[in-house]
Order: sequence, then C-alpha cells, then structure tokens
Amino acid sequence: MAQSNPRFEQGPPAEDIRNLFGSIAHGYDKANDWMTGGLARGWRKKLVKQSGAKPGDHVLDCATGTGDLAIEFAKVIGSEGKAVGTDFCKEMLDFAPEKAKAAGVVVDFSLADATQLPFEDNQFDIVSIAYGIRNVSNPKTAISELRRVCKPGGKVMILETGDQQNPVIRSAFNWYFKNIVPRIGGLITGKKSAYEYLQNSSSQFPSGKEFLKLMQEAGGFEVTECTALMGGASFIYKGTVKSA
Ligand SMILES: C[S@@+](CC[C@H](N)C(=O)[O-])C[C@H]1O[C@@H](n2cnc3c(N)ncnc32)[C@H](O)[C@@H]1O
Repeated sequence: MAQSNPRFEQGPPAEDIRNLFGSIAHGYDKANDWMTGGLARGWRKKLVKQSGAKPGDHVLDCATGTGDLAIEFAKVIGSEGKAVGTDFCKEMLDFAPEKAKAAGVVVDFSLADATQLPFEDNQFDIVSIAYGIRNVSNPKTAISELRRVCKPGGKVMILETGDQQNPVIRSAFNWYFKNIVPRIGGLITGKKSAYEYLQNSSSQFPSGKEFLKLMQEAGGFEVTECTALMGGASFIYKGTVKSA
C-alpha cells in the first residue's frame, strides 16, 4: 500500500493549537460568520442530514469548539437522544453551554482530547468532527479514536476545508483566504497571526480522495465516501463503521 501523506501522521503541536484557539475564542463565532458568509452553518446542517441522525440517537461531536455542530445534532435527536460535545480548549468550550441553552437543547459538554477520548468502545451512533481534524496533532490517530467509540454500523462524520477544483475559482478563493480572511479575523479577535496559521494549515491539508484513503488506512470502516461542497471549498466525509 502507498505511504500515507506525512501530514496525516504529524500535525501541529497540541499545546500550540490549544493556545491559538484559546486566544481567539472570544471572537471565533463572529469571525467565522463574516469569513464564510454563514456558509459553514449551512454545511454543518448538511452534515447532520447526511449522517442520518434520528430521534433517540447518541451523538458525540469532537473538537466541538463553541458547540455549533453538537447543538445542530441535539435539535434532531431530541430529548430522548444524547448529545455530547468535547474539545481540549476550555476557552472555546466555555461559550457552548449558553448557546445550547439559547437553542433550547441539552448537550453534555466536557474537556477531552480527540486523540484520547475518555469513552468506552462502541458508545455512539454518530461521532463527528467539524473543521477540527486538520488541527489535531495526529489526524490518523484521531480518526481511529472516533471510529473506536462509534457503534458497529454507526457513522463517523467529518467536515473539513478542501481544495477548489475549478482553477479560476481556486485562485480567487486563495486570494480571499490569504489576504482578506486574516484581516477580518485580526480585526475581530486581535489575532491576525492565528488566522494566517489557519489559512496555511487549510491550504496544506489534503482533501477529497486522499483524505478518504486516510480513513481507509485508519481501518474499521465498511464504506467511506465524501461530498464536495461548493466545488471542493469544504468536504463532508462519511465512514460507516464495520458491523461486528
Ligand atoms: C476550527 S475550530 C472548529 C470548532 C467547531 N467544530 C466548528 O465547527 O466551528 C477547531 C477546534 O478543534 C479543537 N481541537 C484541536 N485539536 C484538538 C484535539 N486534539 N482534541 C480536541 N479538540 C481539538 C480546537 O480547540 C478548536 O476548538
């Protein structure tokens, strides 16, 4: 089998990432909405739909940040379901309970590293991570962890930035993300450098078929598939965990 992309084995140091998100947490949601024009919100909803989530399901959202995806799941699985949101950055997570309350849903938020989840095997019907996998120190280990805590037949759902397929749109996107995004992020959070890092990490992280290969290498999936959003600006990946 061909060697996996080294970026999948070695991401940025965990402590640097935790500090980075700690420093932008207060403006994260606002900056995100301004940068993506609210697109990311629609894509999280799309991921929930594609996961097949239904009332009563148990769902874990890892690297949940300020909780948006966990909250979207909680709306669908209802009070008979169980939604859990974890992140290793306390400053990001601190905003989540209030948002869940405002949305009228119950989510159990707690601190946890996505590469070492504090849950038994086969606990959840769906395990997700949105815009988090490229930031973990070892993406391949994180995928194995997500799959480990997911039930046989359950779904591992990943939303991550990708590579635009159309070269003209790609150069416009690259210009926007290189020149405008760090400025917006800098204005809102006072940390332009954090958004320069996020832009670089996004442009260097493999997507589409190459990412699906990583999921297959992580093992334990019956089927892996992906959907390109806006010509590849982001991707939704879905892995169906092998039945026992
Ligand atoms: C770009 S934010 C995404 C937040 C949220 N999922 C969303 O869709 O907006 C990335 C999040 O990943 C978290 N993160 C990065 N590495 C992590 C790890 N190893 N374990 C848990 N959380 C991690 C960061 O703290 C941050 O909150």
